[in-house]
Amino acid sequence: MKTIILYYSRSKKTSEVAETLADELSADIIEIKDLKDRKGPLNYIATSFDAMAENKTNIIPSTVDLSEYGLVYIGTPVWAGKPSPAIITLIDKCNFHGKDVILFATLGRSGGSKTIERLREKIELRGGRMINSFLMKTAGKTMYEINEETKKTVGEMDLKIYES
Ligand SMILES: Cc1cc2nc3c(=O)[nH]c(=O)nc-3n(C[C@H](O)[C@H](O)[C@H](O)COP(=O)(O)O)c2cc1C
Repeated sequence: MKTIILYYSRSKKTSEVAETLADELSADIIEIKDLKDRKGPLNYIATSFDAMAENKTNIIPSTVDLSEYGLVYIGTPVWAGKPSPAIITLIDKCNFHGKDVILFATLGRSGGSKTIERLREKIELRGGRMINSFLMKTAGKTMYEINEETKKTVGEMDLKIYES
């Protein structure tokens, strides 16, 4: 069974982690796009509110067929101590029955564990099993540093042992 990485990213930090994972693990990768404009400081409050309230949003692709995958990575930025609405929306549209899931979140400084815990609950409700997770603090880091830290995490967490 193959591995896939699903992620949402607003300012490309989670994207850097996801793409590095895909390279390191030779996994398929799909970026989930949020059709709501989340850019700019003016959207910060509305975006935080949507995350806190777990409001759904319109995403592309609207669902992902996971039937050929045994292991699914899901990545999100932390917003107001919660997962992004795009990832909350995606999870409710996918069938995770029998899937192993590894969750990751990027963040400035706090709310990461709460975010992972909420995602774990939702994955389990949809039949999946979280087998591992990790957080990455991105504040003040360059994309190069995020790339290097991701490669280090792959090694330290032995993520390649899950490859089939
Ligand atoms: C609307 C909004 C809310 C955020 N809330 C948090 C938060 O609660 N805790 C935190 O540590 N970082 C928070 N951040 C920072 C992001 O989680 C962090 O910069 C993340 O790495 C961005 O990922 P991205 O570039 O993939 O979008 C927030 C950022 C935004 C835009």
